[in-house]
Amino acid sequence: MTIKEAIDIASKKLTQSVINPRKEAMLLLGFFLNKDSIFLHVNDTLQIDDVEGFFELVEKRANYTPLEYITKRVSFYSREFKIEEGVLIPRPETEILVEKTAEIIKQTNAKYIAEIGTGSGIISIMLAILCKDIKIVATDINEKALILAKKNAKLHKVDDRIEFLQTNLIDNIKKPQILVSNPPYISKNELLEKHVLNEPHNALFGGENGDELLKKISLIYKDNDEILSLICEMGYDQKNSMSDFFEKENIENYSFYKDLSGFDRGFIIKRRDFE
Ligand SMILES: C[S@@+](CC[C@H](N)C(=O)[O-])C[C@H]1O[C@@H](n2cnc3c(N)ncnc32)[C@H](O)[C@@H]1O
Repeated sequence: MTIKEAIDIASKKLTQSVINPRKEAMLLLGFFLNKDSIFLHVNDTLQIDDVEGFFELVEKRANYTPLEYITKRVSFYSREFKIEEGVLIPRPETEILVEKTAEIIKQTNAKYIAEIGTGSGIISIMLAILCKDIKIVATDINEKALILAKKNAKLHKVDDRIEFLQTNLIDNIKKPQILVSNPPYISKNELLEKHVLNEPHNALFGGENGDELLKKISLIYKDNDEILSLICEMGYDQKNSMSDFFEKENIENYSFYKDLSGFDRGFIIKRRDFE
């Protein structure tokens, strides 16, 4: 079978499950043959040897396995990271959380940071790249995520400045100067697309309302004066419940930020004004 025929058949197989079947068919074939899209266009009459292997990947994608779990790589902050099934795929909006946190690290001159729920490690790794003299402790309850995060830290040569620990929240670790987290924040009753449901549920769902972990993390900040600032990503519909919670708990000096689509996406709490 030629490259062109394989792409035509794969596009048809993907029609029901993906938005852009032809583009994804080409991405999958490019990944399978280890060639770029220009090669596929120029050589579209070339015969493919192991065409069954390619259609196995197409079948997986047609069954809603996210593309990143098939290619085992993901782009974040213009860098490439390893990803695998069982670990949450980084989302572009989390780049804003990294930017906000890096800004606060620079303003406070903080040297010791902690991240709750590191997943593939992207937040801590980017912070270590952007802020050269910090040390980070990054936690997760998912062992598979921590193993992958360590590999990513090594890949980006910051493994000597990040300690990855399997623990609940920041139990049993020294309290940091800056605390950052993109915790699971989706309500257990929210309907999600099929390909999202193929991601680990303990990385997605934060509880009955979704904001339970965000509130627990905010209380860690409240109860530990040495934490100068807490920066968290949250759901687009959680601004009211979180601000009610901050008011009730007398947590002061909080603000919310939006993502690039204009949705509420996170909050920043500061012990005092740093600028
Ligand atoms: C939304 S994912 C974020 C992953 C990564 N930081 C990112 O932004 O792509 C949330 C992560 O928190 C972890 N997690 C869930 N409950 C936790 C807890 N109680 N303590 C520590 N980590 C937790 C999950 O395993 C998951 O890796």
